[in-house]
Order: sequence, then structure tokens, then C-alpha cells
Amino acid sequence: MSGKPLLVTCGLPYTNGPCHIGHLRTYVPADFYVRYMRRSGEEVVFVCGSDNHGTPIVISAEQEGSTPRALSERYHQHFYDTFRRMEVVFDRFGMTDDAMNHETTRSIVERLIENGYVYAETVSQSYCPDCERFLPDRYVEGICPHCGAVARGDECDQGCGQHLEPGEIRDAICKVCGGKAEYREQEHYFFKLSAFREFLLDYLPDLRGTSTARNYALGWVKELLHDWCITRTLDWGVKFPGSDDLVVYVWVDAPIGYISFTKEWAENAGADWKDYWCGDDTRVTHFIGGDIIYHHCIFWPALLKAAGYGLPYAVVASGMVTIEGKKFSKSRGYVVWTNDDYLDVGLPADYLRYYLLSYTNHTKELDFSWKVYAERVNNEIVGTLGNFIYRTMYFAEKEFSGVPDLAPRPEVVEEIERSLAGIDALMRDYDFKNAVDSMMALASFGNAYIQNNAPWKLIKEDRAAAQQVIADCLQIVKALVLVFEPLMPESTQRAWTMLGYEDSIADHPIAEATAPVGARALAKPVPLFEKIEKDRIAELEKTLNLRVEEAKAAAEPKMPTVTIEEFGNLDIRIARVVSAEPIKGSKKLYKLVVDLGGEKRQVVSGIAEFYAPDDLVGKDVALIANLAPAKIFGVESRGMILAAGDEASLLVPLRPVKPGTKVR
Ligand code: MSP
Ligand code: ZN
Repeated sequence: MSGKPLLVTCGLPYTNGPCHIGHLRTYVPADFYVRYMRRSGEEVVFVCGSDNHGTPIVISAEQEGSTPRALSERYHQHFYDTFRRMEVVFDRFGMTDDAMNHETTRSIVERLIENGYVYAETVSQSYCPDCERFLPDRYVEGICPHCGAVARGDECDQGCGQHLEPGEIRDAICKVCGGKAEYREQEHYFFKLSAFREFLLDYLPDLRGTSTARNYALGWVKELLHDWCITRTLDWGVKFPGSDDLVVYVWVDAPIGYISFTKEWAENAGADWKDYWCGDDTRVTHFIGGDIIYHHCIFWPALLKAAGYGLPYAVVASGMVTIEGKKFSKSRGYVVWTNDDYLDVGLPADYLRYYLLSYTNHTKELDFSWKVYAERVNNEIVGTLGNFIYRTMYFAEKEFSGVPDLAPRPEVVEEIERSLAGIDALMRDYDFKNAVDSMMALASFGNAYIQNNAPWKLIKEDRAAAQQVIADCLQIVKALVLVFEPLMPESTQRAWTMLGYEDSIADHPIAEATAPVGARALAKPVPLFEKIEKDRIAELEKTLNLRVEEAKAAAEPKMPTVTIEEFGNLDIRIARVVSAEPIKGSKKLYKLVVDLGGEKRQVVSGIAEFYAPDDLVGKDVALIANLAPAKIFGVESRGMILAAGDEASLLVPLRPVKPGTKVR
């Protein structure tokens, strides 16, 4: 272990939308880790802030008729409050648009220039002739030059995931007016990322944190590193030194925010920020989601190196969060909002913290499903942990009016020590899921211990022996409450109070787990946790399903209004099916002959999966009779049968009419 204090940061949330539970997979594990390290005697500073720059925020502000600063302040406050409600507590939560970050960014960029890592180059950039402006990043949409998917100006977010440099995107369309963008020449500044290949090949293998961060980054570095354009033609952002119409790219000033927020904290705390960021034994640990590994493991260390700062010690990258098996998508309705959908309906932060950390390994994708959530809460938190704590305290209170004045048996103390040592190794290895499983395993040990020793029976023959069992169990309870505090701060504080302590559990190191509880009165024991009932789950699922349905409806194309004359152009008639036969090579199509009164007609219809020929012959159906003829599977079709929905329910007249009757 090095002498420097630990600095933990979290990926900064953008200020253009509310907090969803996908975000929380960065913040909750970081908070868990920080609390754990503090209770293990480490000095830790925990900083974060909001990321205010970049085009999405400008566009959102334009859309709501406000300014990027006002929008940012609103969402900044929102994230601050939401994190508090989730018990994620930073020492400093700053804003990248505040003066400190403007200053720090400019001085770092000046250092990069002085050190020879920035050069100017004329590039062709998307430009909208109608809006008369350059279109940086998300101002354009087009086609990814690498994979052909629809992409945003700076990132192929739906295809290959690659970062796109200005001017790389093809067939660009202006996001403001929808017009075709053209390309114009403009001078921009580039950071010589390519010069850092050797450095990164040397640095990355020793980077601590999750193996995913290290390995993805190494893979990319081994392939190719291209220089990064670090300026944008925009008003909103940190002005590029010496140029009035350029700001630095948001991915330059955002990570520099980590330094600025440390400075802001240090000023207030009377500490020196350089202890955290300068020299070669820093312990800067970044918690991020797997989507921003490139930025944190390649671009950021190169930038720090180029500017002469210390390098990140660890990058802890989580897998992404999905919702009921679907990729997170606000537009498709697959999202669970932290406030509206979770906290505001009265669900405890501690349960969600537990789910996020125990569901799967930190580096794997994590699916959020209300059913699984309820199962985990009911079986593990309520059934194992809560049950053991409650039955122990209830029995102690009822039979012995509090904690007996007895030392726990050495075997029990040893078991606690073994468990804590295992948890500690896992936590220091960023293996949170297995650490939490080991914590829960200690609760299971407690349950087995009380079950096997059955103090409720024992007490009838040997009161002293029963008292010893309860003293042992209370020791396990104390250990559990202390070791679970970093994960579930609110409920463990209640448990601590119930154990008869009057102070804050956060002031106690986990190592006190084996110190005797000592004779004391207990507060009246009550169950710590409540089960989630079935109908509650159904309700929560309904909210999500409704949102998905609404999103689907909103995504349906809006139909234009038609006049009665336009409708009159359609010749819809009732036609009687005369024959129906399959078309060779197609599972879906029938060749139908229909009777239109004076005339027989051949039409091709895609209803073969839903009807047998016999279901159709003799039936009267609706037909668009003047549809332009077409050849389908080589068969001529003159008209179209009308049907509703995915299973082709045919439209039929309610009362009999003659074949050929017009529909009006
Ligand atoms: N502003 C950038 C980070 C700049 S760091 C110098 C950003 N913002 S974000 O609002 O999109 O995301 C904030 C954090 O939440 C990031 O760590 C990101 O990886 C994480 N996640 C956002 N959506 C996520 C999921 N669906 N799943 C897991 N993590 C996700 O990125
Ligand atoms: Zn335009």
C-alpha cells in the first residue's frame, strides 16, 4: 500500500436528463467501496460533479427555450438530491461549468500546447447552410463510415460503438432543421494521442481496477490510436486558449473536472490537492460504466501524462444495466427512473443498493427485473439477514432482557474473523458481488447456528447454555451490522440503535465486529425489513409496461389528414372468395380468386399463416379494387384484401350484401 490517500471519483452525469438506475451502477458501487475503505481505516476523498458541456445539453436547452447554464443548474441539483436519497454522499459535487474548471482546463490545455502535444489542422466539418452554422458532434446524424449504421456526429452509438472524428460521418443531416449538411473547411486543434502508444502499452498492464477496463483498452491501443480533435465550434464550453469561436471538446474538460472538484474540496478542507494528483504514487480510482472505458483508460491517462500530472491508479468499470432484458432506451420506454419509479413510490434505497451490487459480477451486464428484485429482497435481505437479526434480538430481549454479560465462544469469533478477512480481500480486488455474497453467507451462518442450537428448546433444560448461544448470535449480529453498513447505511443504523448503541454506526470501524457486545439493554426489537408483496410487483411492472406501450404508440408514424375527396379515390368493394391456393415457395401468401359481381379477380394476400383455404372460400371480404396491379412472387395481384392487426383479422360485412357492393 502506498502512503498517498485514496481519491475516488465517479463518471460525471450529463445535465440533460434525470437519473435512472443505469446511472446508479457507477455511483452506488463507488459509494459502497468508499464507505468500506473508510470503515477499514483508510483515508478517502470522494468527489464527483455534473458534466455540463457538450452539444446534447445545448440542444436540450434550445428545445425547452432555456439556457444551457440554467438547464445544467437544474439537473445538477437533481443529481445531487437523488444521490443523497440513494445514500451516495460525496465530499464535493461540483459543476464542470464552474470557474474552477474553466481555469484548470485552460491551464492544462496551455500545458499541452507548451509541451508540443497540440497541433492545428484544417479539417472539413459538417456545416448547415440553412442554419448557417457548423454542426459539431450531436448536431448531426448520418451514417457510420466504419459499419454503415445510423450514427451520431461523434459516436456510432447503435452500431460498432466507435468514436467518430468531426467530418468522418457520411450523409450528414442537420439535427436542428433536418436539412442536408455540407462540409466546410475550418481550422481545428488536435491532441497527439498517437504519440502515446508506447506509453500506454507500458502503463495499462499495471492499471488496477477491473480487468475489463485494462483489457479493452489494451486491445484498442494495440490496434490503432488516432489523434483527437479537441476543439469544437460552439459557444457553450471552456474557451480554447487564444481562440474566441472555439471551445474545447467536452471530453477534455469533463475528466479535468475530477481535478477541479478535488481542488474545490481541498480549498474548503484545508488540504493540498497536489497530494492526490501529482507525483508517481497517486491513488486516483475512477468508477465508470463500461461505455466510457476508452475515454478513461486511453485518452485521459495520455492527457495527464502530456500535462505532467500523476496517472490514475485504478479504473473500475461496470457492465451496463438493461431493463427486463432490453437495452436501456428512453425513447423505447425501457427505463426505470430513480425518483419517479423507485424512491417516490416508497421503495428503500438500501434494497436497490443491494440489488445493484449482488445481482451479478461488477463487470457483467446487469438486468433489472422487478420479479428478480422482489425475489432477492424477500429471500436474502428479509429472509436471511433480517430474519436472523430479528429472531436473535427478539429472543435476547424476551428471555434475558438484553445482551447477556458473556464473551462469545472462540469458534464464533474465529468464524467472524475468517469471514471478514475474505470480504476484505474481495473488496480490495473490486469483486463486489462476491464480497456481498460473503457478507450474506455470514448471515446464513448465523441462521444455521441459532437453528442448530435451538436456544428456545435449550432454555427449558439449561438456561446458561441458551444464554451462551444468544451471546454468540448477538456477536454475529454486531458483525453483520458493521460489515453491511457500507452497503445498506440506513437499515444498519436502525439495527445499530436497536442493539442499544446511541451513536452513529458510521463512526465505528468494521474491526469492532469481534469486540464483545457487552451487557446492555436492547431497544425494543422490530423487524428491520419488509417483504415486497406480489401485487406490489404487478403494480411496478405495470408502470414499466405502460411506458413501453406509450413509447410504441408515440413511435407510430403520424398519419396525415385526408379530405373526403381523397378518400373517394379509393375503390373499396365487398368481394366473395371463390378459391384460395398456396403460392409455391411462400409460407405467407395465398393466390385468391374473388367475385366482384360482374367480374372475377386474382389477388395475392399475405394471410396464409392464419387461415386454411377452406376457411376463406365463400367468405365476403373487403377489397381495394383500384390498387395499382403488382407481381408478387411472380403472381399477378390486382387489389388488396383488408385485414386488421398482426394476425390478419379479415374485415367482413355485418349484414349480407351482394358481391361488388361499394364500401363508403
Ligand atoms: N458525462 C459522461 C461522463 C464524463 S466522465 C468525465 C457520461 N455521462 S452519463 O450521464 O451518460 O453517465 C454517467 C455515468 O453513468 C457514467 O459512468 C456511465 O457509464 C454510467 N451509465 C449511464 N447509463 C448506464 C447504463 N445503462 N448502465 C450502466 N452504466 C451507465 O457518460
Ligand atoms: Zn440546419
